[in-house]
Amino acid sequence: MDYMRNKDYWDKKFYRRGENLFSPEKILVESIGCFKAGTVLDVACGDGRNTIFLLENDFKVTAIDFSEKALERLNKFSILDGHSVIVKQVDLSIKDALKDIGVFDNIVINHYRLSKEILNVIYRNINRGGILFINGFGANHKVDDKITKDDLIYDNDFDEIKDYFELVNHIESTNEIGVLSTYIFRKNNN
Ligand SMILES: C[S@@+](CC[C@H](N)C(=O)[O-])C[C@H]1O[C@@H](n2cnc3c(N)ncnc32)[C@H](O)[C@@H]1O
Repeated sequence: MDYMRNKDYWDKKFYRRGENLFSPEKILVESIGCFKAGTVLDVACGDGRNTIFLLENDFKVTAIDFSEKALERLNKFSILDGHSVIVKQVDLSIKDALKDIGVFDNIVINHYRLSKEILNVIYRNINRGGILFINGFGANHKVDDKITKDDLIYDNDFDEIKDYFELVNHIESTNEIGVLSTYIFRKNNN
C-alpha cells in the first residue's frame, strides 16, 4: 500500500495522535530568517506544527491537507494559541489542486513529495522574491514499506523549476528519523 498518499492512513494517524502538537521542523525554525515577510502556504500541513510556528512568527498562513482529522486538530491548536489561520481541504493528487489557491510570499512543503505536475507550476503561486522551502527525506534515506523511493526528494526533482528560482541553500542533514534534504529557493524578480 502507498501509505504516504492514503487518506485513511492519515485520518487514523491524526485521530489517534495524543493531545499535544509536535515541535516544528528544526530546519524550518533555523531557516525562517530568509523567509519574505507576509503570507505562507503550508502544503500538506498535517495537524499544524509548522503552521502554528509560522503564525507565532507573524506570518499569515493558509494551511492545506487532504485529511480532515489533521485539519480539525490544526483548527483546535490555532484557537488555543489565539491565532487565526485559513484552512482548506485540498487533495494534492489532483493535477491542478493549487490552481485557485492564490499567490503567497512563501510556500512550505515539509515531509510531503509533491507531484511533478504541481511542482513544475508552483512558481505561479509565489510572489516575486518569495521563498519556496522544501524539506523531507533525501535520496540517501533508507527506504522501508512506509517510506518508499517515491517519497524521497532527489536533486533532479527541481530541474524544471530552475528558470523561475534561484537556489538559496541546499542542506543535507541527519537526525533521529533519517537523512534529510532541504532546498530553499527564492523566486526570481523577472
Ligand atoms: C509526513 S506528514 C507531514 C505533515 C506536515 N507537513 C509536517 O511536517 O508535520 C504528510 C502529510 O501529507 C498529507 N497528504 C498525503 N497525501 C496527500 C494528498 N494527496 N493531498 C493532501 N495532503 C496529503 C497527510 O495527510 C499528512 O498530513
